[in-house]
Amino acid sequence: MEKFVINGGTPLKGEVEVSGAKNAALAIIPAAILSQDVCTIENLPCSISDIGYMMKILRQIGAQIRVINKNTIEIDSRNVNSYVISHDMTKHLRASYYFIGALLGRFSRAKVSMPGGCYLGPRPIDQHIKGFELLGATVSVDDNAIVDARADKLIGSPIYLDMVSVGATVNIMLAAVKASGLTVIENAAKEPHIVDLANFLNSMGADVRGAGTDVIKIRGVEQLHGCTYSIIPDQIEAGTFMVAAAATKGDVLIKNVIPKHLESISKKLIECGATVEEFDDAVRVSLNKRPDKCNIKTMPHPGFPTDMQSQMAVLLAIADGTSIISESIWSNRFKYTEQLNRMGANIKADGQLAVVQGVERLKGAPVKADDLRAGAAMIIAGLCASGTTEIEDIYHIDRGYEDVVEKFSGIGAQIKRVYCPDPDCLTNAG
Ligand code: EPU
Repeated sequence: MEKFVINGGTPLKGEVEVSGAKNAALAIIPAAILSQDVCTIENLPCSISDIGYMMKILRQIGAQIRVINKNTIEIDSRNVNSYVISHDMTKHLRASYYFIGALLGRFSRAKVSMPGGCYLGPRPIDQHIKGFELLGATVSVDDNAIVDARADKLIGSPIYLDMVSVGATVNIMLAAVKASGLTVIENAAKEPHIVDLANFLNSMGADVRGAGTDVIKIRGVEQLHGCTYSIIPDQIEAGTFMVAAAATKGDVLIKNVIPKHLESISKKLIECGATVEEFDDAVRVSLNKRPDKCNIKTMPHPGFPTDMQSQMAVLLAIADGTSIISESIWSNRFKYTEQLNRMGANIKADGQLAVVQGVERLKGAPVKADDLRAGAAMIIAGLCASGTTEIEDIYHIDRGYEDVVEKFSGIGAQIKRVYCPDPDCLTNAG
């Protein structure tokens, strides 16, 4: 068991480089098996645990993986020979369900156990199933939560999503690229990682158009080929550093980003009084006073991302005035506010709304990471609080933030990872 120990109060200063996007990588890795060839994936955040689990699944179904360097792998899908993925493989992460779409595309059959992942409220997959069925598959989910999808032949179809779903959009794209004829996904998700997946599929010879708008048209092709592809920078990791810079009254240049993807975050930081300078592939964020209050409503892209909600709450927790956060994607994404309140924040969460009454400062305390982004919020809180913060359950953070200690240390944070043999380490926190 490990925890992070943070001594707060130091403004972050300097430069930090953002890794490749986790949520793009999680869609692109399964997509590689559609090719029956070799794909080289660059800018992959190889050391986060979600990517490690995806590689394990790839190996289990017969793919070969060659690690070229820290952020580049080669996936050889020629010998993929199984359409079955068991619960012990899928339980670690949500994105394991992208193998349903990818295996359907490859074998017209997929038998994949329901996925794990952060608990943010119920996470049904009805829209994924609706999409597969419209493409001609028969889908059943048995008592052991194994999804069995099979088709004689996948046939393109119009598919209207009842709600904007990143996962359903990805899964349907994966199943549809080799279906015969035209698939049109309406009310599709528009997140940057959807566009990245489309670009990757097109690099393999697919015909996907409209990604980034709410209508995606996919004309099926017989075969896909290998390619070399570089994953986009991680919007949420970049946003996390941006908020951390502002919350610690720091000044940080965040490199390897696409500023356009960060606009909704930049706008809110500016509303809070921060200065955000945009460069070609970097943003610089600074703040030298107490943040101003501001209201946040999470929305599908290009709205403010739900995955930045908890980090932003830390900034609002020390803002001058009262802010309202409205979470419109997930029904249970305010659990972390209990942890922030332990550090002296004054947040009242009720359902999908939180009222954040700004306090002068947070105080270090023993806390835990309830999920990945909640964990990122705890780091930011620890960095701007006075005294020492110890964060437990950091395996959540390791799922999605590459070299997190090294990167934060590089901009002046006093953060270390310590081994903690005592399961009750919280009570021993010094
Ligand atoms: N929904 C349904 N039915 C479906 C699919 C979704 O009702 O069939 C609902 C969900 O319950 C939710 C909403 O639609 O209320 C949106 O869910 P979506 O499918 O868009 O989320 P996801 O694909 O499960 C991805 C990210 C999440 C991120 C959300 C929203 C990945 C692997 N995960 O989840 O990222 O919060 O989109 O942007 O891409 C994270 O990285 O920390 C994370 C949780």
